[in-house]
Amino acid sequence: MEEFDLIVIGGGPGGYVCAIRAAQLGLKAACVESRGALGGTCLNVGCIPSKSLLNLSENYKKAKKDFNNQGIEISNVKLNIDKMMSNKNKSVQVLTKGIEFLFKKNKVTYIKGKGVLFSKQDVVVYNNNEKKNYKTKNIVIATGSYPTSIPGIDIDEKDIVSSTGALSLGSVPKSLTVIGGGYIGLEMGSVWSRLGSEVTVVEYLDHITPGMDREVSNEFQKILKKQGIKFKLNTKVTSVKKKSSQIEVECQDKISNEKHLINTEKVLVAVGRRPYTEGLNLSKIGVKKDNQGRIEVNNKLQTSIKNIYAIGDVIRGPMLAHKAEEEGIAVAEILAGQAGHVNYDIIPGVIYTSPEVATVGKTEEQLKTQNVSYKVGKFPFLANSRAKVNNETEGFVKILADKNTDKVLGVHIIGPHCGDMIAEMALAMEFGASSEDIARTCHAHPTHTEAIKEAALAVDKRPIHF
Ligand code: NAI
Repeated sequence: MEEFDLIVIGGGPGGYVCAIRAAQLGLKAACVESRGALGGTCLNVGCIPSKSLLNLSENYKKAKKDFNNQGIEISNVKLNIDKMMSNKNKSVQVLTKGIEFLFKKNKVTYIKGKGVLFSKQDVVVYNNNEKKNYKTKNIVIATGSYPTSIPGIDIDEKDIVSSTGALSLGSVPKSLTVIGGGYIGLEMGSVWSRLGSEVTVVEYLDHITPGMDREVSNEFQKILKKQGIKFKLNTKVTSVKKKSSQIEVECQDKISNEKHLINTEKVLVAVGRRPYTEGLNLSKIGVKKDNQGRIEVNNKLQTSIKNIYAIGDVIRGPMLAHKAEEEGIAVAEILAGQAGHVNYDIIPGVIYTSPEVATVGKTEEQLKTQNVSYKVGKFPFLANSRAKVNNETEGFVKILADKNTDKVLGVHIIGPHCGDMIAEMALAMEFGASSEDIARTCHAHPTHTEAIKEAALAVDKRPIHF
């Protein structure tokens, strides 16, 4: 029987990165994956294909609506959805194959099949009709998550879809009702709205993107509304029924309790994701879960069984690929005797709409709840020269700094390219920067990043261009 120092179950961004780092540190590592391709949800049916469609649909929208006003006259802009989808599929394929190459390069054993814990040191892998046993000193559970639905709504991935189906629609639906105004709903809603669908987002709360700084969230909704997306807030979806030619979505206004119907061609259910822990034999082995079905871990990412670790969407914290990666690396380093750690206070979040939304650290609402005295510095992209020449003036940068020490506590941006810009803020915060440190850092002109410097100057009420 083959024996390993570490078997990682799940080949998503958490699992595959963990296996590579462990191998780099001299451990004999294997990664078990049942999907038939590495990269997990993120690469196969999540972050990567959605970013491909977000980019392509944005290009289409620009060519159709914006270029003519900018002196680039093109007529007959036509959408070829099949080509767009195959372009997306090709990007996914290249990247998943890339991970197989990285496994070979780093001498990680790739085991295809479904991994099940037989004991705390034995993993059984089922692949078609074959069953193989492996011995291991340590196990990392990195099995990710799957979309949840609402009771009584069956996702068929054809007419009533999750993010997976929304990434592969064969034609542009006349109308799309999105249940849930979170990351997935707004990204996929944007894609299909740009391609010509009439999109309505139904959200249970009185605002979209729960947990985000409210000022940014409100601005975000305003911008999306201007782009043509309709919103029904404070509204609960109570049933979704397939009729002969349409789907009937029954909604209930949370305030008036009144019910109304939306008739729509397709429905996207985007109401969150659930940890995927089924079929691993966890309870028999004694791996404990919390009351939300997540695997319990300590600050070393160890489960209730010492040599079994868990990372990514199956444990607490934001369900984000980069958070899972950090945890994967931390576990590999801990197993190699190093001090692996994850700074959960500085995990950026990005929504890849147009404009993008990016945040890191505490929101204004969190600081208020925690009774922290803070200063705010804001700068609009309208006053940023690069954004202005590119006709991308929507949004702003908002920096929150401690009132007494000036230490940056949170940065929230809505605006062009802020998904990339937020890295500078995460780095600054990792180094414990003050807003003065950022204000005194030379930023190239003309770049969008100058809006960050100006927002930092605005914390001290001395912006130059606003
Ligand atoms: P989410 O948790 O971000 O948003 C779900 C929304 O659905 C919430 O606003 C909630 O209030 C609403 N909701 C729940 N039940 C409802 C009902 N019955 N009627 C109407 N509204 C209802 O979940 P989402 O968008 O499905 O994303 C899942 C996970 O994937 C998230 O953790 C997200 O962070 C991650 N993700 C991250 C992306 C990124 O980093 N760009 C992109 C896509 C997903």
